[in-house]
Amino acid sequence: MKINLVGCGGISKCHLNAINVLKDKDIELTAVADIVPERADRAAQDNNCRAYYDYIEMLDNEKPDVVHICTPHYLHVEMAVEALKRNINVVLEKPCGTSADGLKQLIKAEEKSNGKVAVCFQNRYNSSVVFAKELIESKKYGDVKSARAVVTWRRDEDYYNADEWRGTWAQECGGVLINQAIHTHDLMQYLCGKTTDTVEGHISNFHLKETIEVEDTASVYFTYTDGSRAVYFATNAAGSNSDPIVEITCEKAVVRVEGSTVYKIDNGAQVIFSQKSESDFVGKKEWGDSHTHLISDFYDCVRADKPFFINAKEASRAVYELLAVYESSKSGKTIVMKDFVK
Ligand SMILES: NC(=O)c1ccc[n+]([C@@H]2O[C@H](COP(=O)([O-])OP(=O)(O)OC[C@H]3O[C@@H](n4cnc5c(N)ncnc54)[C@H](O)[C@@H]3O)[C@@H](O)[C@H]2O)c1
Repeated sequence: MKINLVGCGGISKCHLNAINVLKDKDIELTAVADIVPERADRAAQDNNCRAYYDYIEMLDNEKPDVVHICTPHYLHVEMAVEALKRNINVVLEKPCGTSADGLKQLIKAEEKSNGKVAVCFQNRYNSSVVFAKELIESKKYGDVKSARAVVTWRRDEDYYNADEWRGTWAQECGGVLINQAIHTHDLMQYLCGKTTDTVEGHISNFHLKETIEVEDTASVYFTYTDGSRAVYFATNAAGSNSDPIVEITCEKAVVRVEGSTVYKIDNGAQVIFSQKSESDFVGKKEWGDSHTHLISDFYDCVRADKPFFINAKEASRAVYELLAVYESSKSGKTIVMKDFVK
């Protein structure tokens, strides 16, 4: 399969590493693109492929089977739709969209195309999450009654000042909710396995008022259609980075995923799973080491023409919900998801 990549910045290294790890199969990286010529040239040189400065020219010349999109948030829908129009499969970095209209456009484009979409919610492939998902679905501890999630990370001026798109409503399209904590948000909903009825939330900027337009902190209250509920707190204003926590309360015990560890809590916390670190880890610790697993699984689905489970529709759920938090924070209202998504 011919692979291309657009956006040769930080996260592209995880994708290029995965492509190189999977090269032994039938995988060939033929080209990369970036609007900053030096970045495209450097990535092309390091990976022995052609460089483009215009991704449309790359798609039209190279006619790849799969393109990886690793650009800033505001470009994701536009680029994925261009690829899908050409029936090219897409590995799309999160978030898969930044507005309700964009999400609809992407979902429709995937439905109409012969190409598939894989959105990088790679943490669903973490061994701890796979273990917790199987345990919760087995109903060993009974039905899910409620959930909570907590993300406390530190992002300072240097992080936001490193790239122009960060910290802006126009290009990052949000702060901690849409960029960092979206993974934990997605994992909570994935492990919980329920349908969201309403979302109410509040966003604030505690720490970086002079540096960013967007929120560094959010608190959210979800209700589900079965009457149960979840709470979620996320911040980039903490003094240090801690492992995110997703806790699912079942009838007979609580299952807590804290980074790479899974705890069972009934009378006291007991470690029931601990994930070993893996050898192909590239990039920051918070990114985890599961990009390769997701990409390998997606390539298998493309080869076999089988559906991939984190497609545009599935990955849109967390984005619709965080857009509902922004709306709720602005209006002071509770957002009913079935009205918000239609
Ligand atoms: N899944 C994860 O855990 C994870 C981790 C980090 C980043 N990300 C996501 O990856 C994406 C990129 O983040 P990053 O940290 O690598 O950003 P970055 O700024 O380091 O890299 C983005 C690259 O895109 C290029 N670019 C911008 N506009 C372009 C265009 N029109 N055509 C071609 N190239 C263009 C930039 O020049 C830059 O090289 C974001 O969506 C981010 O949320 C995901």
